[in-house]
Amino acid sequence: MNFIKVESYEKLSMLAANIIADVVINKPNAVLGLATGSSPLGTYARLAEKCKNEGLDFSGCTTVNLDEYVGLDETNDQSYRYFMNKNLFSYINVDINKTFVPNGCASDMASEGEAYDKMIEELGGIDIQLLGIGLDGHIGFNEPDEYFTKETHLVKLDESTIEANSRFFASKDDVPKEAITMGMYSIMQAKKVLLIANGKNKKEILEKAFYGPITPYVPASILQLHKDVTVIYSEN
Ligand code: F6R
Repeated sequence: MNFIKVESYEKLSMLAANIIADVVINKPNAVLGLATGSSPLGTYARLAEKCKNEGLDFSGCTTVNLDEYVGLDETNDQSYRYFMNKNLFSYINVDINKTFVPNGCASDMASEGEAYDKMIEELGGIDIQLLGIGLDGHIGFNEPDEYFTKETHLVKLDESTIEANSRFFASKDDVPKEAITMGMYSIMQAKKVLLIANGKNKKEILEKAFYGPITPYVPASILQLHKDVTVIYSEN
């Protein structure tokens, strides 16, 4: 594992964007695994700049997102599809028809999960998976549990996740209680994993995840078994 500590969120974002850009330059038809939340906002802003000012070309790329809230469709400004359109896709030259986010409004989540995994497999897997980390150690919305779940699946969000994500909603009651998330198989099969985290409050969980035992109670700890993981952390 490559653990890089930087002194600012700006540096984190610049470095993360450079790593993703490198994948895109070397493989113009790369499959990019993307995340939402506050951690990647700076990275997406830098990627947008690179597309606009440096000609970084996303036209051949496909993107697959980690997760989506159950019950929110793309018109809902709290949905992750909306987030991706607003913060990245509208600024880069990716073909919107080649951007995928699990469907949080699917009538059958098991079939949706199966179809999502099959699609990723048919794309040849993910070339680089960008991840944030939850305060409880979740990646995607793989919450602490007795076991790691392989498939894309429906999850009940932990109280701590609902609490943490309530900052984006009018009230805590508005935060959906369930989500659909990519499982550990597609994440672990990604050729490269790039996890970004900022803030003092993420320090303890990073230590547990990357220097503690591998356990499904700290879902990100599974990444210790991945052969190409870069973690970029900034305390600020
Ligand atoms: C979002 C996701 C989550 C977040 C995590 C950290 O797609 O998969 O695992 O990465 O909750 O969120 P932030 O970056 O808001 O601290």
